[in-house]
Amino acid sequence: MTDQVWQIEPSGRLRGDVEVRGSKNAVTKHMVAAMLGVDTSTIQNAPDVGDVGITAAMLRSLGFEVETGHGEITVAPGTHVEPRVPHAFTGLNRIPILMLGPLLHLAGEAFVPLVGGDPIGHRPIDFHVEALRSMGAEVHIGDDGIHAKAAKLRGTRIDLPYPSVGATETVLLTAVLAEGKTVIRGAATEPEVVELALFLQRMGARIELSPDRRVVVEGVERLRGASTWLAGDRLEAFSYLVAGLITGGQVRVHGCPQDRLVTAITTLARMGAQFEITDDWLTASAPNGLRAAAVQTDTHPGFMTDWQTPLMVLFTQAEGMSVLHETVFENRLVYVPALQKMGCEIEVFDVCLGGPACRFHDTNAKHSAVVRGVSKLRGADVTMPDVRAGFSAVLAAAAAEGTSTLRGIQHIERGYHRPLEQFSSLGLKIRRETVA
Ligand code: UD1
Repeated sequence: MTDQVWQIEPSGRLRGDVEVRGSKNAVTKHMVAAMLGVDTSTIQNAPDVGDVGITAAMLRSLGFEVETGHGEITVAPGTHVEPRVPHAFTGLNRIPILMLGPLLHLAGEAFVPLVGGDPIGHRPIDFHVEALRSMGAEVHIGDDGIHAKAAKLRGTRIDLPYPSVGATETVLLTAVLAEGKTVIRGAATEPEVVELALFLQRMGARIELSPDRRVVVEGVERLRGASTWLAGDRLEAFSYLVAGLITGGQVRVHGCPQDRLVTAITTLARMGAQFEITDDWLTASAPNGLRAAAVQTDTHPGFMTDWQTPLMVLFTQAEGMSVLHETVFENRLVYVPALQKMGCEIEVFDVCLGGPACRFHDTNAKHSAVVRGVSKLRGADVTMPDVRAGFSAVLAAAAAEGTSTLRGIQHIERGYHRPLEQFSSLGLKIRRETVA
């Protein structure tokens, strides 16, 4: 059997300019929202990531007309709506669950295969299912996926036990066409969620964003198509800034607004990074080296959990002992063994370190890490378990001595916009190869 791998040779300081596209975590949700419009929607500045192709294929199988290319996606209604997402899409990403509400509105019934996504935490879907049930859907979870039925969906009050991004999106995508008012308490306020709400508002939805994580949606009878330009991906922006810092270089990132990176910038500045920020780009360098830090991930506007993996590699190049406390997903440190193989001195713990106790404090979940820096990293042959982990391995390989072979690269290609080209343009010797 052959395998596609990336071969990476460390190439000194990474320098140059990178332009990030619209975010991976927003683009597919906008595609789902577009299902609800009676005419065509257009999404611009879309990233060229695998999840877009997967979501486009799902929408086509449901009867929608979807065009993608040159950073633009159009979604138009077809002649009929097929309410079942085919089994072939089992486990590919977590988008099908978001289609339940829209399919119920359009067809009165829905089936979506079991959701996939990265192997981080148990990734339950109970909030989604409970929300749909409380809006009047009959939901049955079978061995092969989720079946739902609803003659009519009605607005109601939904208290989310945790401000889940996906569950908030499920409620938004369902409440906009439900009868009456839906009030979400404990809603996620991540920029990508707000971006989705704004897109739905353009389509004609009545959405109010109130203080204290309260969102009020008044259902309307129909939504039209809309057009939008996606804002830059804050995970990619952060990852490339770190790529510069980790190699003692400097990367200038274009296309991601500063307000999406507030906590990231402050965290890196505390570690000794110096920033230059304009309306068009931002750049970071650390001419005097980096210091250790204690960082806890959190919901927005806290330190984003997706930034945790690049940060962990950066910690290995900062002077002293750093601490990372992951509080959003209980199992997001699964990539640590790959980094340890590359010489990263990281130890994981099941206790809450570097911050107050979190939801996982009395579980066995290894969700805290202590990282020693500065470590000498070495090239290795490693397999990447998920998209963010994959990127961190590239960063470690760029800062290591010796060549690295990275396997499982489909994870990075699913979630990052043309990473091979972007890294090459920064001076990294990286190539895709087929190995036995
Ligand atoms: C999204 C992002 C992911 C990001 C995460 C948190 C996408 C495609 N992915 O994931 O990159 O890291 O938000 O910002 O947008 N939970 C439940 N029950 C549920 C739903 C969630 O217990 O029904 C829990 C999860 O296990 C987790 C927490 O809520 O502990 C947060 O998950 P959630 O915000 O829903 O993450 P995703 O939407 O899956």
